[in-house]
Amino acid sequence: GNLRIYIESNYEEMSKKAAYILSSQIRLYPQSVIGLATGGTPVGMYKELVRMHKEEDLDFSELTTFNLDEYYPISKDNPQSYYYYMMDNLFSHVNIDINRVHIPNGMAEDVKEECKNYEKMIRNAGGVSLQILGIGPNGHIGFNEPDTKLEPYTHLVELDEKTIEANSRYFNSMEEVPKQALSMGVKTIMSAKKLVLLASGKNKAEVIKEAIMGGITPEIPASFLQLHPDVTFILDAEAASQL
Ligand code: GLP
Repeated sequence: GNLRIYIESNYEEMSKKAAYILSSQIRLYPQSVIGLATGGTPVGMYKELVRMHKEEDLDFSELTTFNLDEYYPISKDNPQSYYYYMMDNLFSHVNIDINRVHIPNGMAEDVKEECKNYEKMIRNAGGVSLQILGIGPNGHIGFNEPDTKLEPYTHLVELDEKTIEANSRYFNSMEEVPKQALSMGVKTIMSAKKLVLLASGKNKAEVIKEAIMGGITPEIPASFLQLHPDVTFILDAEAASQL
């Protein structure tokens, strides 16, 4: 079928599997366009990719990347921004060409223009070959929150109370979490040739079950992945425990 599920014993094995899949793509097609994700889940994968660069000559120099999302408003030098996260976890440790790195601009003055331009840059790059995804405990992908309808393209999002709460662990307080974000839309995500979703831990078990085995509904944005022709779930044992 179109859906592959790997169940790894723990977080570290999940991270290694994801890094292996991503590094294979990079070695085979050094000029790939890769979609990247943030959040706690892919940190171990980025660590492993940095190790592969340092110890196994994994070459990032010809790669183009597009991140899924960014808070709004937020500045690049804010340690909670996804720009800062990407520099900190990956970009500053590998030989990537920063001119080929794309993250929605959390300080854009004209949001509509920024979103339109982001879509245009993805198109001009030839589309995303492999998109890495995490999943929110509420089933969001990127920052596409559960709703009665989903936005197809890159857009401004009002964050869910639940998401603000879940992400407040990275901030000093709930008040500091931005209330909005810029995110690729569901169609942007679904247009990638391959999707690889990572999930770890007990608090993702229920939503992983819903996303893979439940109905396809905008209430669980990740459930739309069931419609994609090439999707891989990499789970640790806890996240897979309800399957
Ligand atoms: C964040 C990001 C998502 C991420 C998700 C899960 O808010 N916008 O792209 O996948 O929530 O985060 P975590 O991996 O920390 O559980």
